[in-house]
Amino acid sequence: MSISYGSFPGTRPRRLRTTPAMRRMVAETRLHPAELILPAFVREGVSEPVPLQSMPGVVQHSRDTLRKAAAEAVAAGIGGIMLFGVPEESKKDAVGTPGTDPDGILQVAIRDVRAEVGDDLVIMSDLCLDEHVDHGHCGVLDAEGRVDNDATLERYAEMARVQADAGVHTVGPSGMMDGQVRVVREALDGAGHQDVSILAYTAKYASAFYGPFREAVGSSLKGDRKTYQQDPANARESLRELELDLAEGADMVMVKPALPYLDILRQFADAVDVPVAAYQISGEYAMVEAAAANGWIDRDRAIMETLTSVRRAGAGLILTYWATEVARRLNRGE
Ligand code: PBG
Repeated sequence: MSISYGSFPGTRPRRLRTTPAMRRMVAETRLHPAELILPAFVREGVSEPVPLQSMPGVVQHSRDTLRKAAAEAVAAGIGGIMLFGVPEESKKDAVGTPGTDPDGILQVAIRDVRAEVGDDLVIMSDLCLDEHVDHGHCGVLDAEGRVDNDATLERYAEMARVQADAGVHTVGPSGMMDGQVRVVREALDGAGHQDVSILAYTAKYASAFYGPFREAVGSSLKGDRKTYQQDPANARESLRELELDLAEGADMVMVKPALPYLDILRQFADAVDVPVAAYQISGEYAMVEAAAANGWIDRDRAIMETLTSVRRAGAGLILTYWATEVARRLNRGE
C-alpha cells in the first residue's frame, strides 16, 4: 500500500518543530547515560593527575584519581569505563612486558577500579601492546622491523589472561591483528574466564585523529599503523572484518573513529544483532574543544550534536571522553 501524505499548503513539516516540547516529543534519537563509556588513562608513578595538553579537560590519572573518576562515573549512571595503562618509560621494552605483568599498571588499575565500583560499572580494558612497548607499535616486531601478526597473538593471549585475572569484565582487543578475537577467546576460556566478554575493535581505521591519544599514552611510535589498521578509503572491507570477528567470538563490535565513519556504523547496525559501539576518539574530542576554546563553535551544542549523530547512525554504545559530563547533563534533563 502506498500512503499519500498530501502536500503544501496542507502539509507543513515545520508544525512539528514549533516548540522545545514539540521537538523533544518527536525526537527520533535519544541519548542515555547507560550507553556511554568513559575511556580513562592511568599513569604509573604519579601522585597527581597529569593534564593532557592536546586534550584539554582530560588527564592521565593517578591511581587515586582514577578510583574517584570511576566512582563519579557510577554516580552519573554511565555504562562502563575503558582503561588504558601508561607504564613508566623505563619499564617499556620490545615485547611490552608491563602489559603481561600481573603488577603492571593496567592490571593494578583494573583491580583498583573493581575494588571501588564492583559490578556497578562495566570495567573494560584496552588489550593492545602499543602502550607497553618502547617502539610504539600494536604488536611485536620481526627481524625486519615489521609487525609480526602471529607472534603478537601470543602476547595478546597472555594479556587477556592477566587482565581477566585482575577482574576486568570486558576486554577490548584494539591492535587489528588477524585472528586476535579467536586467540583472546581461547585464552580466556582456557583460563576459566568464560564470562569475560570481548568488545572487538572490528573496523579500526588508520586515522590522523588518533594524534592526541599518542600524547595521552606517551607513545613513542615512529611511522604509522597502515599495515594493520584499515584504509579510510574502504567500506566493504569492514564487513569482512565484521564477519571474521563474529565468527571468532566477539560479543560486541566497534567502529573507530566515530564521526568520519558514520557510514560504516550504519552498515554494522543494519547487518548484525550484537551491540555495536563507536569510539569518539581523541582527535574528535580535540577538534571540538579547540574550536570552542577559540569561540568558533558552541561547545555544549557541538558535543551533543556529535553524540546524537553517532547514535543516529546506529551506535548502541559510545565511548567518549565526555561520558561523565554528558551523563550529568542528561540526568538534569538537558
Ligand atoms: C590502541 C588504541 C589507540 C586508541 C585506542 N586504542 C591508538 C591507536 O590505534 O593508534 C586511540 C584512542 C583515541 O585516539 O582516543 N591501543
